[in-house]
Amino acid sequence: MKVFTSVKDIGSLDVAIKEALEIKKDRFAFNELGKNKTLLMIFFNSSLRTRLSTQKAAMNLGMNVIVLDVNQGAWKLETERGVIMDGDKPEHLLEAIPVMGCYCDVIGVRSFARFENKKDDYEEKILNQFVKYSGRPVFSMESATVHPLQAFADLITIEEYKTKERPKVVLTWAPHPKSLPQAVPNSFAQWMLAANYDLVITHPHGYELDPEFTSGAVIDYDQNHALEGADFVYAKNWSAFKDPYYGKILSTDRSWTVTAEKMALTNDAYFMHCLPVRRNMIVSDDVIEGPRSLVIPEAANREISAQVVLKRLLEGISKP
Ligand code: CP
Repeated sequence: MKVFTSVKDIGSLDVAIKEALEIKKDRFAFNELGKNKTLLMIFFNSSLRTRLSTQKAAMNLGMNVIVLDVNQGAWKLETERGVIMDGDKPEHLLEAIPVMGCYCDVIGVRSFARFENKKDDYEEKILNQFVKYSGRPVFSMESATVHPLQAFADLITIEEYKTKERPKVVLTWAPHPKSLPQAVPNSFAQWMLAANYDLVITHPHGYELDPEFTSGAVIDYDQNHALEGADFVYAKNWSAFKDPYYGKILSTDRSWTVTAEKMALTNDAYFMHCLPVRRNMIVSDDVIEGPRSLVIPEAANREISAQVVLKRLLEGISKP
């Protein structure tokens, strides 16, 4: 594998899940693969899980790790070509990226949607410059439109807990006080559909996601109806995708919060969320703390999804 920015890069999901479960049984089995190889993790945005799990996965593979928080201690980076750089950004991404590539063998990038220009966000302007100019294998640690390491971990978790071949999985919008990107729900939908699960997406009118990611899912504007018979409930907030409201909050309706009453409509479903989560906005305390909550095993599987991806990128370095 030379790049990991989407479900399309992982190949067969059956093979990837099998590989993940093998790695989980013995996470140090390939600790020679990354010897004398360096991972550079570049964060344009904050992180807890991605930072720790990816670093741990790299260490399991014997890699050295450098972490760069672009907004803390590095020069502020200009990202637009053609700009007269007389402002507060002393370095351009077009020099910074190949320089970063000099110091490492693999690069992970976290760069969220900026909500300044939908076209730039959905063309993955920042991430694609790393792919183009770094000269190194690049993987997404959540980009403007997708979070594939998270969705892969979600898929591994569902495979571990499901009791039927094709579970009903409900992705439900839930309220949040800040405007959040669509990356997690986009990826979740894309990976669940690729896994051929019965995917239902429920949200208020106006929160329709990009059909590129959701085509094939049932869209149900009635959350209670959508939850009926669900085996897994995946809660997430996202801002509007559709113009002219791209990146805007259209609702903070707390009747969409996932509560015990909502979960009672399901087939004793497991509750999932990528974290961090706003309690009693997205989900009630009793649901997230309850016996059907998978938020911690799901976060733990971030180490495994990252390790499969890093392993494949390291194997790709040695292949022409
Ligand atoms: N789920 C996730 O990506 O968490 P962080 O933002 O803390 O990395």
